[in-house]
Amino acid sequence: MKAIHFPKYGSFEHLKQIEKPIPEPNSKQILVRVKNSSTNAMEWHIFRGLWMVRMKCGIFKPSKKYDVQGADISGEVVSVGSEVKGFKKGDAVFGDIFNGGYAEYALAEEHQLAKKPENVSFEQAAAIPVAGMTALKGIRDITKVKKGDHVLINGASGGVGTFAVQMAKHYGAKVTAVCSGKNAAAVIALGADEVLNYETTDFCSQGIKYDHVIDVVGNRTPKEMKRILKPGGICAVIGMTTLTLMFRFMLNPSKQIKVVHVEPNSEVLTTLGEMLSSGAVKSYITAKFPLAQVPQALKNVSTRHVCGKQVIVIE
Ligand SMILES: NC(=O)c1ccc[n+]([C@@H]2O[C@H](COP(=O)([O-])OP(=O)(O)OC[C@H]3O[C@@H](n4cnc5c(N)ncnc54)[C@H](OP(=O)(O)O)[C@@H]3O)[C@@H](O)[C@H]2O)c1
Repeated sequence: MKAIHFPKYGSFEHLKQIEKPIPEPNSKQILVRVKNSSTNAMEWHIFRGLWMVRMKCGIFKPSKKYDVQGADISGEVVSVGSEVKGFKKGDAVFGDIFNGGYAEYALAEEHQLAKKPENVSFEQAAAIPVAGMTALKGIRDITKVKKGDHVLINGASGGVGTFAVQMAKHYGAKVTAVCSGKNAAAVIALGADEVLNYETTDFCSQGIKYDHVIDVVGNRTPKEMKRILKPGGICAVIGMTTLTLMFRFMLNPSKQIKVVHVEPNSEVLTTLGEMLSSGAVKSYITAKFPLAQVPQALKNVSTRHVCGKQVIVIE
């Protein structure tokens, strides 16, 4: 099978399409013929080998288990291990497998997948797992956004942000979106009520207090975030720009600041499938790349200015 080999941290030169044997599922695994994958900031963090990544994927270089990247997948089940109960050959599925998705075939476990609704395309499904689960956790589970809330979303135009805007609107909130001027129209089209351009406006100095904040960027201090929250309001921290800020947030646990951590979950993926199917949200796909061009797609992610989602077309 064709796969994008990732033998070395930080080197686009070594990130190449190669031929590999099709992986064999063990008794608990599902072999998926991958139709689409997508990119997330997560792949960029893994690619450049952050120390947290190296603890899991290999200190000096990615270990054999992690030498193909790609968390999000959609595709068709080819075969299942003897202990797999919820999926069978021929099922159309999508999910978050952490790694291995930039390939023609990938292995998954049951909790990492959900069945794809028939009226949802494979491309739409492949764009949602990591970013959608993260946005849903921030909006539905952590801040529990409800009708009438005023929510600020910092980083509204990226992968997580474009889902967060739509989900906050779905739960009935008024949304103030923070992004650059070039992406303002896109974010308004997704449902945001107003946009603050971070190039010209400091959202922490407007004198406005929000019911909740979804911080996908992570470029402000806990103190600044608390200042723009109403009493009882929560800031769900999803992204982080510097280690210093990360430690400040982690060492300052409070009722108002909650750091979001997401693990693959079949039930949550099923909910996302239903949201796509009903039209409550859509994956805002702004670019498509064939498998061989994964390095270019990851270079784009490294700029931190991809708007919406980039999809990888494999089959
Ligand atoms: N906690 C978790 O479990 C979890 C899960 C998923 C992702 N994350 C984290 O969440 C972050 C976002 O992930 P993603 O996949 O959505 O990334 P992404 O799609 O690459 O985000 C790119 C977006 O960030 C925006 N941006 C860059 N600088 C900004 C600034 N100063 N203010 C406002 N927006 C800014 C860009 O908007 P403009 O082009 O308009 O500037 C662009 O649209 C990453 O740090 C990622 O690691 C965490």
